[in-house]
Amino acid sequence: MLSTLLLSFVSVALGVNAASRTSPPSGAYVVNQSDTASGQYATISDAIDALPDNGSDVVIFIYPGTYNEQVYIDTSDSVTIYGYTEDTTSYDVNQVNVVVSLGASETGSDDTTATIRVHSDNVAIYNLNLYNEWENSGNAQSQALALSAYGSNFGAYVSCFYSYQDTLLAESGNQVYLNNYINGAVDYIWGQSARAWFQGNTLASNGPGTITAAGPSSSSVGQLYVFYDNKVTASSGYTTTGEVYFGRPWSEYAHVVFIDTTVSDIVAPALWEEWSSSEPNTADVLFADYGTTGISDISRPSFATLLTSSEAATYTISYVLGSDYADWVDTSYL
Ligand SMILES: *[C@@H]1O[C@H](CO)[C@@H](O)[C@H](O)[C@H]1NC(C)=O
Ligand SMILES: *[C@@H]1O[C@H](CO)[C@@H](O)[C@H](O)[C@H]1NC(C)=O
Repeated sequence: MLSTLLLSFVSVALGVNAASRTSPPSGAYVVNQSDTASGQYATISDAIDALPDNGSDVVIFIYPGTYNEQVYIDTSDSVTIYGYTEDTTSYDVNQVNVVVSLGASETGSDDTTATIRVHSDNVAIYNLNLYNEWENSGNAQSQALALSAYGSNFGAYVSCFYSYQDTLLAESGNQVYLNNYINGAVDYIWGQSARAWFQGNTLASNGPGTITAAGPSSSSVGQLYVFYDNKVTASSGYTTTGEVYFGRPWSEYAHVVFIDTTVSDIVAPALWEEWSSSEPNTADVLFADYGTTGISDISRPSFATLLTSSEAATYTISYVLGSDYADWVDTSYL
């Protein structure tokens, strides 16, 4: 109890997880679309281009607005991006929107559709809303990413990711997703080799389909997504029941674990499904859950596992990301 009190006192004193973040930290690269002072940048991409790329720790602070641009990050710097907000703990009041409308059928690859493409290590984003409007713009369904994360030690905090198919690519390295809103219908959290920890997020489906589609190329890749204490719900306008699944295996080595998940009745009683009837990909999967609540008629297929409480307890953030995770994860959001 004393240590909890001390910790929260230290957090407040350092301004970590503060209630608002409405002015740039000193030394920050400042993006201001509406009113750019000398030394500031009108777009996020201009600020990224200005980074020293010499292994520095840099901060980008973005004032409110809707930024219609694709952001590509590939630098040796460790980059922390803060969106202006009056409440750092609630994505509902985020004021920085980054918007593209790009589908893979147009760009020729999945990665090149993403609103933000992270191709280097040690990047963190806070209080950003990332939109890929491809599906909403009336185009034929295609892969349309809001985030493409290839970098290791990547963190997303209190941010929103909006699309329909393949919204969030957690592709490689170690990654953490804390207190975000992740929206989509088809395979909307996916990737091949990342180890990723998801905690405190709302997973909001806007159509029938599967939340995760993990596709490691072999059992030795080490891919693992662990979801701890998240909520699955419908985004507004989607009402059908029983058509959303925790995952389907893009490859037969998919490893996905959901612990202490609260679900609404959009979730199918089976929780998990095959990739397809002609290509089930279920031979070597780890599809496991524990403490799923919100629907009462759960009936898992034979390839899925209901963990015991002691098995569930082994899937800690330290197990997923390594015992040095606190060196790069913002633990004030755990
Ligand atoms: C930047 O934008 C905000 C409004 O979004 C404004 O209040 C602020 O004064 C702007 N200008 C500079 C130079 O920071
Ligand atoms: C990186 O470049 C910036 C800007 O030129 C400079 O201020 C800084 O000292 C450099 N840092 C390192 C680690 O070289």
